[in-house]
Amino acid sequence: MTSATATASAAATAAPPLLRLADVSHTYSGGRRRTTVLKGIDHVFERGTFYTVLGPSGSGKTTLLGLVGGLDTPTRGTVSFEGRDLTELGLARYRNKHAATIFQHFNLLAYMTALQNVTAAMEITGATPPTGSRRAHALRLLDSIGLDRTTATRNVRRLSGGQQQRVAIARALACDVDILLADEPTGNLDEDTAQGIVDIFRDLAHERGKCVVVVTHSARLAARSDRVLTLRRGRLTERVDTKAPVGDRPTGASGTD
Ligand SMILES: Nc1ncnc2c1ncn2[C@@H]1O[C@H](COP(=O)(O)OP(=O)(O)OP(=O)(O)O)[C@@H](O)[C@H]1O
Ligand SMILES: [Mg+2]
Repeated sequence: MTSATATASAAATAAPPLLRLADVSHTYSGGRRRTTVLKGIDHVFERGTFYTVLGPSGSGKTTLLGLVGGLDTPTRGTVSFEGRDLTELGLARYRNKHAATIFQHFNLLAYMTALQNVTAAMEITGATPPTGSRRAHALRLLDSIGLDRTTATRNVRRLSGGQQQRVAIARALACDVDILLADEPTGNLDEDTAQGIVDIFRDLAHERGKCVVVVTHSARLAARSDRVLTLRRGRLTERVDTKAPVGDRPTGASGTD
């Protein structure tokens, strides 16, 4: 064994990856029809990395995010967090403590204000703000993504699609988790706001060591991520930009086994 291989295998023994998908397949069964959406996916997701997932409509991006976010279990294979199978860890516990999802259709609590949506999520997950009260922290977060106090205290049903999307993002940011997952988070936003959200995702990964996985149709958003994955015909592949100078490529553990 070479010393490089020995070091690599020692590191692998010391710390399992943050998130590992091992031979993950997923099949939907409805009546007599069975659709296999994901086929034997092997992949690791690490801390401090901003991933984007591209792929045609219906290719299984939301399905994949659901498995990674602990909302569903694969019909074959395993998803593990720091070496523990999510089913063993408990999906609810995993969602509360480790992984927050920003849904494609927001899933906000309809009879609450934007602010209450954020503080309720913090209460449910037991998230404690770095300083001050939960309410003050939630207001700061909402303000940081362009929702002022007046908007924050309005019922979410009275907000525009883009504003609701930002509430969903603030809600996920408020729960200080290791993994942040987002399904088309900038789809309803104007270009400036969208770029601001991408800046937040990059900071969360690079400054705070989070693992951020964003499903998108936007090549522009993908270009600002560290690793671009493509889902097609049930398989997940990583695009390696061979034109980028070596120094510009993201470093760290390989995203693909
Ligand atoms: N609950 C379900 N029951 C049966 N089939 C489903 C279910 N959810 C998704 N599918 C099917 O699985 C496939 C993948 O769906 P998925 O929502 O994961 O795709 P997607 O890549 O997120 O698409 P989009 O870009 O349009 O959001 C589609 O063919 C879809 O019809
Ligand atoms: Mg989808």
